[in-house]
This record gives sequence, C-alpha cells and structure tokens, in this order.
Amino acid sequence: MRPRTGDEIRESYLSWFEERGHRRHDSDSLVPANDPTLLFTGAGMNQFKDYFRGKGTPPCARMTTAQKCLRVPDLENVGLTAGHHTFFEMLGNFSFGDYFKKECCEWVLGWFTEALGLPRDRLVVTIYQDDDEAYEIWRDHLDVAAERIYRFGDKENFWPAEAPSKGPNGPCGPCSEIYYDYEPNEPLPSHEGLEELPRRFIEIGNCVFTQFDRQEDGSLRPLPQKNIDVGLGLDRITAVVQGKTSNFDTDIFAQYIEWIAKRAGKRYGDNPRIDVHLRRIADHVRAACHCIADGALPSNEGRGYVVRKIVRRACRDGYEVGLTEPFLSEVAGLVVARMGGQYPNLGDAQRQIEALLMQEEQAFRQIYVHGEERFRKWFDALGDPSAWASTEVEERGTLPVPPDSGAVAFELHDTFGFPVDITRAMLLDEGYALEETGFHRAMEAQRTRAREGSALSGDVFADSIVTLLKERGVPTSSFTGHEAMVGKGAVLAICSGDVEVETASEGTVELVLSTTPAYAESGGQVGDIGHIGAANGRARLVDTQDREGYRFHRIEIVEGALCKGDEVEVVIDAEARRATERNHTATHLLHQALKNVLGEQVGQAGSLVAPDRLRFDFTHGEKLTAEQIAAVEDEVTREILAATPVQPVDMSLDEARAAGFVAMFGEKYGDVVRTLSVGDYSRELCGGTHVANTGNIGLFRILTDASIAAGVRRIEAATGLNALALVRAETARLDGVAQALRTQPADVVQRVEALQADVRQLRKEAAATRSSSVGDVLNDLETKLEDSRGAKILAASIPDANNKTLLDLLDRLRKKHESFAGILFGASEGTVAIVAAVSKDLIDTVKAGDLVGEAAKALGGGGGGRPEMAQGKGKDASKIDEAIAAAWAQLGL
Ligand code: SER
Repeated sequence: MRPRTGDEIRESYLSWFEERGHRRHDSDSLVPANDPTLLFTGAGMNQFKDYFRGKGTPPCARMTTAQKCLRVPDLENVGLTAGHHTFFEMLGNFSFGDYFKKECCEWVLGWFTEALGLPRDRLVVTIYQDDDEAYEIWRDHLDVAAERIYRFGDKENFWPAEAPSKGPNGPCGPCSEIYYDYEPNEPLPSHEGLEELPRRFIEIGNCVFTQFDRQEDGSLRPLPQKNIDVGLGLDRITAVVQGKTSNFDTDIFAQYIEWIAKRAGKRYGDNPRIDVHLRRIADHVRAACHCIADGALPSNEGRGYVVRKIVRRACRDGYEVGLTEPFLSEVAGLVVARMGGQYPNLGDAQRQIEALLMQEEQAFRQIYVHGEERFRKWFDALGDPSAWASTEVEERGTLPVPPDSGAVAFELHDTFGFPVDITRAMLLDEGYALEETGFHRAMEAQRTRAREGSALSGDVFADSIVTLLKERGVPTSSFTGHEAMVGKGAVLAICSGDVEVETASEGTVELVLSTTPAYAESGGQVGDIGHIGAANGRARLVDTQDREGYRFHRIEIVEGALCKGDEVEVVIDAEARRATERNHTATHLLHQALKNVLGEQVGQAGSLVAPDRLRFDFTHGEKLTAEQIAAVEDEVTREILAATPVQPVDMSLDEARAAGFVAMFGEKYGDVVRTLSVGDYSRELCGGTHVANTGNIGLFRILTDASIAAGVRRIEAATGLNALALVRAETARLDGVAQALRTQPADVVQRVEALQADVRQLRKEAAATRSSSVGDVLNDLETKLEDSRGAKILAASIPDANNKTLLDLLDRLRKKHESFAGILFGASEGTVAIVAAVSKDLIDTVKAGDLVGEAAKALGGGGGGRPEMAQGKGKDASKIDEAIAAAWAQLGL
C-alpha cells in the first residue's frame, strides 16, 4: 500500500530515511531552542545549524525529522494561494559531513518515485547555474532527461535565497529543487530567458548542499565538511499524492474546513471569497495551537505578538463568514485530536490552548465590532477608485489605493486598538491596497518604541557565546545541585554583556562553570543565589541561568578578581534554596489538590517558584469560594502531615507519559526526563529541586486567588516560615484593630457591627436636622417674597450658605411658585456666594445671568450662566445690602 494520507506520507518519509541509516529525531520547538536571535523555527535545519559548522557532536551523522515551522512573511498570502501557510511541517533529511550530493539526490528521487509512486515524467529538477556535478548526477546517474533539468542563479537555487549577495551569514549552499508538473501534456518550457518556472510547476523538495559558511564580510568560506539539508513541505506533497491542486483540499485540512463551514452554515467551494476565509481560519488555528503548546502565548511583543496577530486574523475571518460567537477553541480541539499523535505536547496543552483562544477571541471581538463599524463608515463613503494611485501587491496584481487609507488605518489602530494587518486584509478583500507610506509615517513614534521594545532580530545565524563554546568543543556543565549545596568547578568562560573576557575584577559578569551545584531557572523555579570564591577573589551569585546545557552564573564581584580557568567554589544560599524547595513541592501538591477540589479541567498555565512565595496559574472559570480555598488548603496540609517521601526518577519521555506523569506545556524535554512522585498523590515531570519529604514544607497558606485573564486564575501561596510570618502578621493586624476598638480580638466583629449601627442612626438624625433647618429658612424666605406683575420675586441673603445650599433653596421656591424670579447671597469668610433663578415665563423680562452679573460686579467678583439659572462669586460682603437693593430694582420693584 502506498502512503496516501498526510500522516502516512510523513511516516513513509521518516522510515525511508531510517532505512538509509538516518536517526529519527524529534521536531524542535517552534520557539527555537535557546536561540534568542530567531523569532520562530522556520526550517528543519535550524536545530542543527551548529553541526553543519562542525561545532558539537551530532548524535548521528545522518538525521531525519518532521519539523514544525512557522513562516511569518507568508501570512498575507495564506488562504489566497494553494500552498502558503503560516505553520507547516517540513520533512527533512540531513547529513553532517557524511553522505553528499549523489546519495542525497538518489534517495530523495527514490522516495518520490518508489515510495510515493510519482511518475518520473511529472518531475523536473533545477540546479545551481554552475553545478555540473549535480547535473551529472541527475542526468547520468539518475536518468533524468536533459530537458527536464533547469539551471538557475542565486535567487532560485541557493539557500538561503540570494545568500551570496545578501546574507544572512552562516551555513548556506547551492541547492537543487524538485518540481511537480501539474500540466504534463503541455510542452516543457524552454531553457532560454526563463526567469522562473511557470505556475504549473510546484516545488516539492529542496536539496541544499550546505558547504559554505558566509562570513561577516560577505565571503563564502568553505565549511570543514560537506553537508546535506533536504526540506520538503508535507502539505504540498500530500496535495500532489492526493491529486489536489491546493494543500487545503487534502485530508490534512478537510476536516477543519468542513467543520468551520458547517458551523457558519456555508459550503466550501460555493463562494471563492468565503473559501479564503475558511482556509485562513483552518491554517491560523492550527498555527496558534502549536505556538501555544510550544510556549509562545499571545501577547503584545515579540513572538507573542505574532501569535496574537494570527489568532485575531482567524477571529476576524470568522466574523466575515458569519461566526459571531466564539468558535476558535472548538477548531483547536479538532487540531489537537488530529495532530496530537505526532506532537503529544498538543494534548498536554489542550486546556491552555482552548482557554487562551477563548480569551483572545472574546477580547478581540469587542475591538473588532467597533473598529469595523468605523471602517465601514469610511469605506462606504469612498469616491471613485479610477482617480486613485495604484500599487503592485504580491499574488494580487495591481490594486487601487484609497488615498487616505493610511491615515484611517492609523486612526483605527490608535483609537480602537484595531490592528493594521486587519485593516489591510479588509481592504484586500475589497480589492484595494493599503496606503502603506501614509500609515508608516503616522506610526513613526510607535514604531520606534516597538523597535526598542523587541530585542529579537531576524538574523538567523547570529553567533552567541554558546556557539563559541560549542565551537571550542567545550562540554556542557554538569549539575550536582540535586545532591549538594556546595561544589567546585572550573571557569570555562566569563561573559561581560555579549562579550567574552578573560578576567573580571568589578561589576556584574556571567561565569560559565564546568560543574556546579547552582540550579538554573527552569520549570518556574528561580535560579539559585549564593557565593562564589576563587583563590584571588570572591563574588555574590545573584542568578543562575541555563543556555543549551551551559550554566551561566550571574555574579557581582565583592573583592579581588576571577579569571578564566580558575577553580572556584560555589556555595548556594541554603536558606533560600530550602525555602524555594518547600514552595516547589507545595506547588505540585497544590496542582493536584486543585484538580481534586475543582475538577479535572484544572490545567497548569504557568508558575513561579521563589523562596518567599509560589505563584500558580491555572485554567478555571470562576473565583474560588472560601470553602473551596479551605478545602484546597486542608488537602495540601493533609499531604504535608502524611510526611510522604518525594521521589525523583529518571526515565524516557515515552515511559513517563505512559506512566501518567503530567508534562507542563511550553516546557521542552530531552530524551531522558526527571519524574517526580509524591507517593501516589502527585506525578509530574520536573527537573526542579524539592524537599525530601512533604513534612518539610511545614505550613501552607493561600494568600490570594485572582483572575488574570478570562478562564485563567492565579493563586499565590506561602509555605514554612513565610506562611507562619503571614499568619502572625494577620494576627497582629487583628490585635491592632481590637485595640483601636477597645475590645478583645474575639469580639471585633460584634463591636464593628455595633459601631456601624451607631453610624447609621447618627446619619439618619443628621439628615432630619438638616431638612428641618432648611424648612425654617425656606419659611423665612417665603415671608420675604414680593409680588410683581403676577410673579413672586425675591432678593435676600442667608449667612454662611454656600452655592449648593442657595441653589437648593431657589430650586424649592421655583418649584412651589409657578412664576418666580429671585437672587440669594451667602457670605462666609471673605467670599459671597451668589445664585439666581428665574422661571421660564419671566426670562424675557429678567435673566438670572444678568442678576448674578450685576450683583457680582457690585461685590467685586464675577459669574454668569443661563437665563434660568446662574451662579457667581463676590468678595466684598460689606456691600451685600446694596447688592440686594439693586437686585430688587432689577426684579421690578
Ligand atoms: N533549508 C532548506 C529550506 O528550508 C531545506 O531544508 O528550504
């Protein structure tokens, strides 16, 4: 049986190369292992780039992988073309100084023709312009007809493309590609003047002959060994095997697209515009699932920003096909079910994936609804496109550019947080292009900030200290800290910033040691602190980090100097470490207790284990009740009281999974993992350090339970002496309150309740007094009212009254007397409040604003307002009587 489904094709490839001496190796994470220079893994060779340069020793000189890749530059084209994706799987076979071109071409062609059964007359190959060796291999050794072999230059047949002239620096080489011909009955294109193969040919394999290391100065230095790096996109090959022209029509995507279409009440294939959305959703959700499972969580910078962008685009596509309720997490369920077999970490992270997608989707839907409304308003009022400039857009041809679209995209971004790529996609869907320069000009300030905020560069091959260490063949550090708190090691390197130095005599530097008891931050547990001493110097150890197995000790020099080659003694701060260990074991107990009390849906979403506290993030929808918190504390405490031994055991990852150990999402594991059991109660994969026995934890208290995102909660807790200090602080606070209330702590609640009752009573009495005194004043004012032309008029002063009181009084008078005009003054400490009110029927005769204006002038102040109501302020209280007389005159007496 020939392989047909995507899964079968992947398996066929890996075993084909296993049969040819290759070791099957796991995919690297999408977040490249310890390579901060690279945003996402984009090719199968990334995890092996040091081996190509002869640095480090590969486990086998021939390897084969199915590598998870993410290519962000292709984002805009996804869904529009047959073969662009964000996430895709790249099948690969690699040789590190072992076999070269001949075997490479033979085996790759063999897999296509023998294993998959592709007819030879549907394949053409390309080679680098002067690579006669490859030409001879294809034609003479493998019998490919000469007219089926095309030669191209740096752009087509060098990898990375155009590396000789443009870089990046690092391993590169000429390549030979294999294309599939979708129109075999048409004559083959000629060799002359051919820029690239027409669209009827689709690239299904790329054999890179990695034999150069591009240097800073642009020169191509031959590598000490010749290597092979073959990459084939699984989705494309599956399309070819299944006789489809689009990757989205294969079994890899069919199920997702069908589900989404059904949910939207649409049929895939009915409407090309809808189809683009359906394809994009399928692609983007698949990508987001893998990113999250690999620890790239949606956020506002770096990798997280890319993930957020992908999720938001999928959400927006959902809107466009009428899916106005959240649905992404359900598609994610399909992705996990389909791909979890090959990538078990998807299953481990399923709850986190679903919760995070739900949260992102809910948040973005609000942004989208408002932004889309504003966009439509602008869009519907657009004029005649024939008068606009136009621009070339890849895969789309020439599109008109609405002249102010850059400014609108910026406004949408700035006011609604509406992402520009969504505006761009909305315009593209309408057949227009975004005015990019206008947008970028407006974004200048934000762009600068973003640039500064992100330390990630795109240079795939930037060298790091770690690469230098590997180059020198320096073995990685060994860790003795599971058993010891003190240990000796040799200084392998000293780094000051990104630069290696020989000696450090002041400031902060990092030491790489051959052997160390210092735990490096990982799995939530912070790096160890302590002291480091050498023959001629001493330093404080302030943090420990791991990079590809090398342990970096961040130190502050206290005295003397430390030199490369020194033997040093590392003394861990035992108190801090022990406190951290109590928190770490307690974190495992807490995790299990939460599952037991709240249900199996609880999944870990992150943790921090420090000496003073532990923080545990988990998926759960509601606030914990006081009873639930107590139940969790009780359960953890029962486990502490049982004084169960804590047992670490090393085993293979597969064995550990089979034995039911819980893996943490986003964590990377090697072939051999450390498992940690607390009796039968808790089983997790964990490389951290722990107490020997749960009884060592002593005391456990939950401090807070808060929501950090929709569906994700955070508990902070303390153990041991920290928990005791906490309880003591609470007791001290209670004692303080009791003292202030002049009672015993036991009676505090009763006392507070009694006080609250007193306050309520006093408030009631005060309100009654206030209203009776207002009543008196009002009665007094009534007696001062005069009649004028059928209206009641009044000018009077009330000592100590402020604007608010006067306003209140006038309001009552106006309500009582249908036709009313009056002005009141209130003098207190050098200011005079003035308020006037006039009922509507009288405002043609006298206006409140004029009354206040005149009076304020007379009293050396100012004010004004509407004809019916005005306020002001005066300074000279001695002139109130004159002002009252003047007001009476104005009022008509
Ligand atoms: N590195 C090459 C590519 O990405 C072949 O694996 O195409």
